[in-house]
Amino acid sequence: MTRQYKTLGEFIIENQDSFKYSSGELSRLLNGIRLAAKVVNHEVNKAGLVDIIGEAGDTNIQGENQQKLDVLANEKFIQTLKKREIVCGIASEEEDDFISINSFDNNHQNKYVVLIDPLDGSSNIDVNVSVGTIFSIYRRITPVGTPVSLEDFLQPGINQIAAGYIVYGTSTMLVYTTGDGVNGFTLNPALGTFYLSHPNMKFPETGKIYSVNEGNYVHFPQGVKDYIKYCQKEEDDRPYTSRYIGSLVSDFHRNMIKGGIYMYPKSSVASEGKLRLLYECNPMAFIAEQANGIASDGKGRIMEINPTELHQRVPFFCGSRKMVEKAEEFIRKYN
Ligand code: AHG
Ligand code: MN
Ligand code: MN
Ligand code: MN
Repeated sequence: MTRQYKTLGEFIIENQDSFKYSSGELSRLLNGIRLAAKVVNHEVNKAGLVDIIGEAGDTNIQGENQQKLDVLANEKFIQTLKKREIVCGIASEEEDDFISINSFDNNHQNKYVVLIDPLDGSSNIDVNVSVGTIFSIYRRITPVGTPVSLEDFLQPGINQIAAGYIVYGTSTMLVYTTGDGVNGFTLNPALGTFYLSHPNMKFPETGKIYSVNEGNYVHFPQGVKDYIKYCQKEEDDRPYTSRYIGSLVSDFHRNMIKGGIYMYPKSSVASEGKLRLLYECNPMAFIAEQANGIASDGKGRIMEINPTELHQRVPFFCGSRKMVEKAEEFIRKYN
């Protein structure tokens, strides 16, 4: 028997009174993201059948080879949000610069900017493994009626109004927060409707999973190496289980449900790690904190970092509170 679930559309309307600012506009924006998620889901699902897997032939500003699906997901999200005239600006991992959106009938009256990682886990596309999308929403700080500027995007994570991700996995889920807990919605593909399947998601306080690209071990700082050895030691409830998909969204999603830590440390070959503060770390940090977890750069809270550039990278340790605190303890020994 099927249970009666609330739809995402119903949930957005029911909860819009709890939003800190102009509720109607944020609801329209969340609905725009819901639509874009369905469009990208459709593209991802048929990836093996049409000519959209493989490299696009270009590199993005961060020197990564763009996959065709990176480019397509980027286009779909931007188009959907642009057409609905619900944001004043968009920044994306796949765009060199931010995009200022002005519809001539409203003269820069929209208040929100969106930052996106349109397709997370690009390296998994060709092999039919889960990928995702990450989004982060801020209220602009420059006055309405003027074009957006860089400072609207370079806000610390604590200013986020909403953040979420979509995981295109065995089922497609949209998980998001507006600062009042984290809720997860599963797509019924036959109906094209997201249903509230995971209300009030929480990281277990501790867990038994550690997720890190151990191929980079020799390049990691000593504190991180020591923490990994600690995870592998036979003592108390250890050794932990190692699980690493290589899609931040999927690794995070699993760890939130089962309990675990995700790490992308800095290394001798990547001085700030790999993950992007604005498109990846801040939104995931907001979700983690809203779900009783924490997110750190190894020394302090991710969401308190003042960004200096759009595509800034940062070391990232995120997940069950006790596990991240333990990792920080090891890292601190060498500072
Ligand atoms: P993206 O596909 O958006 O560029 O992000 C890839 C990120 C993240 O999803 C993943 O956790 C990490 O890169 C994997 O990197 P490694 O292959 O270096 O482990
Ligand atoms: Mn990329
Ligand atoms: Mn990514
Ligand atoms: Mn990406």
